[in-house]
Amino acid sequence: MKDVFDILSKIKAPQVLDAATGRGDFINILKQRLGHFVRIVGVDSNPKTVEHAQNLFPEDEVEIYQMNLEELNFVDDHFDLVTISNALHHLANVELVLAELLRVLKPGGHLLISEMYQDGVQTDAQRTHIMMHHWVARVDQRFGIDHFETFERQQIIDKIKSLGLTDLKIKDYYVPVNNPKDAQNCENLKRNYNGILKRIDSLEDSQSLVVEGEEIQKRIQDYGCAPASRIMILGTKPLNQSTD
Ligand SMILES: C[S@@+](CC[C@H](N)C(=O)[O-])C[C@H]1O[C@@H](n2cnc3c(N)ncnc32)[C@H](O)[C@@H]1O
Repeated sequence: MKDVFDILSKIKAPQVLDAATGRGDFINILKQRLGHFVRIVGVDSNPKTVEHAQNLFPEDEVEIYQMNLEELNFVDDHFDLVTISNALHHLANVELVLAELLRVLKPGGHLLISEMYQDGVQTDAQRTHIMMHHWVARVDQRFGIDHFETFERQQIIDKIKSLGLTDLKIKDYYVPVNNPKDAQNCENLKRNYNGILKRIDSLEDSQSLVVEGEEIQKRIQDYGCAPASRIMILGTKPLNQSTD
């Protein structure tokens, strides 16, 4: 985790946009690791996470807004760095959002994507995490929330390559876990699991989701859990690609 974001220390980006900022976890990484910044703007469509992030970052240099990534309220060519972490599989229209992120990025500015993927070599404990993720996505969908299965690694690469960025840097990474069955590793997953079961309770025709949940609980016991592998892609918007 440390090494893959070392690349941020070489980036001097006065104006930064963290898209789909959620509770602001990636803003913390940006604050700690960026070589230089003046202002970090985080945007998300969920009013609850926006409120959480606004409380988390009271400082002037971080601003959090509720906004739809499909229609960003920023002028063209504005940001020096645009980031989107763990959110591509939450988007109803990935292509439209990526085009918007590119629109607000300055020519010569950087786009950074970090995203977990579902294929490749993953341990049994990592597969528990992926299965859990897909289960939560199916439950969210039943409540009308955009959340989809995670992408395959190559699908993510293809989406980003189609943007025409230059100097693409692609790195795979994962958070190492010594003992996947260690109760602490699974604590978050178990907490989420219990919350999801409660949500399923209120649904009609939820038998298949309950069965899927039971399989995941058995996996947590048998294999434990560890975060799935992720890909980090960094690219530069070509100087001749101004949106003006
Ligand atoms: C898993 S969270 C992001 C986590 C965060 N970036 C991080 O790395 O910790 C995914 C976020 O995408 C947001 N989202 C999904 N579709 C969106 C859209 N069209 N516009 C803005 N935010 C969106 C959701 O509200 C959710 O907070």
